[in-house]
Amino acid sequence: MALAEFDLAIFGGTGDLAMRKLLPAMYARDRANDLPPGARILCIGRHESSDADFLKHVEQDAKPHVSKEALDAAVWQRFCKRIKYVAMDATDAASYKALVEAMRPDHAITNVFYLATPPSLFSKICKNLAACGLATSNSRVVLEKPLGRDLASAKQINAEVGEVFAESQIFRIDHYLGKETVQNLLALRFGNVLFEPLWRREWISDVQITIAEELGVGNRMGYYETSGALRDMLQNHLLQLLCIVAMEPPVSITPDAVRDEKLKVLRSLKNFTPTTLAQNVVRGQYRSGHVEGVAVPGYRKEADANPHSRTETFVALKAEVDTWRWAGVPFYLRTGKRMADSLAEIVIRFKTIPHSIFAQPNSSFEPNCLVIRLQPDEGLTLNLMAKTPGDGMRLKPVELELNFRESFKSPRMEAYERLLLDVLRGQLTLFMRSDELEAAWEWVEPILEFWDQEEDDPIPYTAGTWGPAAASALIARDGLQWREEALPEL
Ligand code: BG6
Repeated sequence: MALAEFDLAIFGGTGDLAMRKLLPAMYARDRANDLPPGARILCIGRHESSDADFLKHVEQDAKPHVSKEALDAAVWQRFCKRIKYVAMDATDAASYKALVEAMRPDHAITNVFYLATPPSLFSKICKNLAACGLATSNSRVVLEKPLGRDLASAKQINAEVGEVFAESQIFRIDHYLGKETVQNLLALRFGNVLFEPLWRREWISDVQITIAEELGVGNRMGYYETSGALRDMLQNHLLQLLCIVAMEPPVSITPDAVRDEKLKVLRSLKNFTPTTLAQNVVRGQYRSGHVEGVAVPGYRKEADANPHSRTETFVALKAEVDTWRWAGVPFYLRTGKRMADSLAEIVIRFKTIPHSIFAQPNSSFEPNCLVIRLQPDEGLTLNLMAKTPGDGMRLKPVELELNFRESFKSPRMEAYERLLLDVLRGQLTLFMRSDELEAAWEWVEPILEFWDQEEDDPIPYTAGTWGPAAASALIARDGLQWREEALPEL
């Protein structure tokens, strides 16, 4: 579907997200000839600057995030012509005159306001947009995470943004939903008959979802210190992945059909009590160590760190989805910075065979396991038992491997490319609805409250490892192991 003419105004247009993700994503779509000829990108910042000076900044900070193979000098030039700089103070209503003048007074043009700002500014910006007449029925607003820092602030954002924009105009971004493999998970579950009958407590023993990063907190200490791993990754990315794994088949791929099912999952997550919290949630903080052979400082020694910080950089927990389909199946979620590897994967482990007809005992049969890899290489692995060649009947585990990059030669899209295209098309399926956001906060809030009252610091773990030993103990208590612990040593 061809895109209608649009103006994309980015609040926080000089910031890190705009430079690293949004502008490179829009360039990629320009190169693919998806952008209409008159489409423009208005980058909003506080400081006075000419378009020419701002473009130098784009050249220096956004261009390096476009891969060398994708860089085409002529397209880059065309793309830069779309970019305008607007100097204004987003908190000052009078300042919006500059934006009104920069945007085109044409009702056929879609106006998209991308709020890549702290959430404390969302309401104010929306009110100011309404006051200056820019919030019309033909405009959309994109809210970048963090979407609040607890249930009350998320509700407040929903209510205040909702006073200006209808729910169908609000795009709450979780970039994990834009990743290729997440959509492939929908294809796998609902485009095949093979898995769905087995996708339930009768056949699945446990589900593990891991997002591990080798990176530390980098230069984001100011933000991270107010957030931590639970707010930064678990409340959003990990819970969204859990929803896609656990949801019932939606009746269609339309936004509300999918979002209704995800909401049901969030609402059926078993609530923690102080006792189950202490047993089932582990928080950690990295100390100095080595990542890929390079010595790295601990979190409390990073630039601008609070030397007594109690912010968690790791969290692992055991969740349960209280439904007929999932009762009793543990969902282990885990995320951390400065871990042993950078990967994001979902592991669905099936039950062991009930009875062995071979000379081998049941216990030597590895359970079938489906690994859905989001990062670094997108793909699926299905572990099966197969006969070893030759005489006799000895079975061994083998892997059926599907690598999406090799199987599909067609050009790939980054998450932000797909999501920005969806915003411009008005397609909401991959964006969170207000009630989903609130349900996710409602579930994590007791954890935040418990940690606030707890006297103990997060458990230290050495950078470059898989986190505190308590995370292994959490899963070992159920007689299980994290996938990397179960893999044979190379
Ligand atoms: C962001 C978090 O939402 O996701 C970051 O704020 C994190 O802390 C990032 O590094 C991870 O995203 P990806 O796509 O690199 O796995």
